[in-house]
Amino acid sequence: MVIFMCGIVGYIGDRDCTNVLIDALEKLEYRGYDSAGIAVMGNGAINVAKCKGRLANLVEKMENEGRPSGNMGIGHTRWATHGEPSDINSHPHGNRRVTVVHNGIIENYRQIKEFLINEGYSFVSETDTETVAKLLDYHYSGNPVDTIIKVLSEIKGSYALGVIFRDFPNTIYAVRKDSPLIVGKGEHENFIASDVPAIMKYTRNYYLLEQNEIAVIKKESVTFYNTHKEKISKEIHVADWDVDAAEKGGYEHFMLKEIHEQPTAIKTTIMPRIQNSMPDFSAEGFDNKRLSSYKKIFIVACGTAMHAGLVGKYVIEKLARVPVIVDIASEFRYREPLIGEGDLMIVISQSGETADTKAALELAKNNNADTMAIVNVKGSSIARDADMVIYTHAGPEISVASTKAYMVQISVMYLIAFELALGNDTITKEQCAAYTKQLEEIPDIIEQSIALENKCQFVASKLLNAESLLYIGRGLDYALSMEGSLKLKEISYIHSESYAAGELKHGTISLITEGMPVIAVVTQDDLEEKTISNIKEVKSRGAMVILVCGKDVQVEDEVADYVIRLPKADKLLMPMVAAVPLQLIAYYAAVLKGNDVDKPRNLAKSVTVE
Ligand code: G6P
Repeated sequence: MVIFMCGIVGYIGDRDCTNVLIDALEKLEYRGYDSAGIAVMGNGAINVAKCKGRLANLVEKMENEGRPSGNMGIGHTRWATHGEPSDINSHPHGNRRVTVVHNGIIENYRQIKEFLINEGYSFVSETDTETVAKLLDYHYSGNPVDTIIKVLSEIKGSYALGVIFRDFPNTIYAVRKDSPLIVGKGEHENFIASDVPAIMKYTRNYYLLEQNEIAVIKKESVTFYNTHKEKISKEIHVADWDVDAAEKGGYEHFMLKEIHEQPTAIKTTIMPRIQNSMPDFSAEGFDNKRLSSYKKIFIVACGTAMHAGLVGKYVIEKLARVPVIVDIASEFRYREPLIGEGDLMIVISQSGETADTKAALELAKNNNADTMAIVNVKGSSIARDADMVIYTHAGPEISVASTKAYMVQISVMYLIAFELALGNDTITKEQCAAYTKQLEEIPDIIEQSIALENKCQFVASKLLNAESLLYIGRGLDYALSMEGSLKLKEISYIHSESYAAGELKHGTISLITEGMPVIAVVTQDDLEEKTISNIKEVKSRGAMVILVCGKDVQVEDEVADYVIRLPKADKLLMPMVAAVPLQLIAYYAAVLKGNDVDKPRNLAKSVTVE
């Protein structure tokens, strides 16, 4: 089966539609870049251009073979998890009468396809999407909304659909269920898109489509219907991100820009939750009494977000003395976890759309646990499903490798830990205020970490020939090492493992050979001596040691080949300070290897399929 996790767009207005669609799709390429395509209404016909590969391939193809032109159309960028990306499987799909772009999975597409084949339809692609297009054609009654309602009653699965009908050359139809879709409202022009950055250049005003709401979009109007064909009115949202926040702003890559945005992102995230130097979640609707009522806390997420949860575990357990279980969402959801009433489930997600994280959240709800989501994308599925939501304010994160989202997730973890510890009486008010104040100072300290950029670039140049390397640390430094290692793997394609420094001698140390790089993180003074001993063990076996450490860590000359000294901060908060050089080392290793930093191979930013 071919399943998708993709980006869709649509435009109607006076501009050249092809230009707008391509421009908007560029912003959505992080959702997938296995193929791209557009369908544009011109001279009473639907004209399609599509091909395998990056959007740039489509642009080139249109330069050579001609481009569709008109004032209304839909577009798509695709990420396939099964089945070959190919020209034929590229969206849009359909026939001369109705054409569709789709993000999601139609679970019963086989049955529908079989039915339609019996009815005389033929299919050219392996996609589930083509069945939706042909089913729309089959039920077409001359009334698009009726037709869509009929089709919705027959399809199962997840979808965000943009649909155009040849007979209605001035209208785009859109509907969604379990896949995100917004409708952008402009002046004499309107849009659809999988997310806001795609259209931010044109408008900041948008509607969030809810489950199975149908949008009828014309140049001068947008009308919404439910599946009973009743008109519904919807609230307009205004994107509060900077217009150029979705652009590179002079940086070579989004990742570097996003690394530099971290101090601001943290400030914007924590400031609204601090009152008189104390954490304050009253706007989110909870306080420390509610937090301290939980017996156990589960933190569940995927990838980098899960690593932010690991930092959270250390900090919450240390300060608030509550057991915290951190799990990978894809594991949690299938291991019959012992979660129930009286427990708190915290899910962390940048996109708020990650399928496994969403499923883990559902499972917790079904088991009567209370749920809290830490999410960056407003109005995303996970944010809407959870009992409590804390929005991080990182702004749009475009680079597939997450940096600023991780940082703000951690900043929220700290605030929760402080609030909870206060509620549990495991820290005093004064201590809580002192910690909170130190957190407020972190953005300035991170600026100093970012100033280590040249040094990190130099260190990265020493990794390029390595086949594999190790990241080691203890406690919080171990949690951070895991993220450092993931970052390097994701974008530089150099293999690495993160290891608890004390565990090395139980097996992994056998991997150390002459010149193998080991990146050691030492920021926790109580564990410093122990980790330094472990570093000596690898050094004496030939490792090339790169030490990322606190300002005051005592290092004898022979312990490390390269030392990156971090600016000073409270030791509990050091993961935020130390994360930056690890991000920069990964970034420069990828740049120096000539990789596509913002769009690493085989990866996608938001994984809305299992
Ligand atoms: C993908 C991305 C990762 C991200 C993970 C979780 O795998 O490539 O960078 O950490 O999903 O995404 P979320 O949106 O839930 O934070």
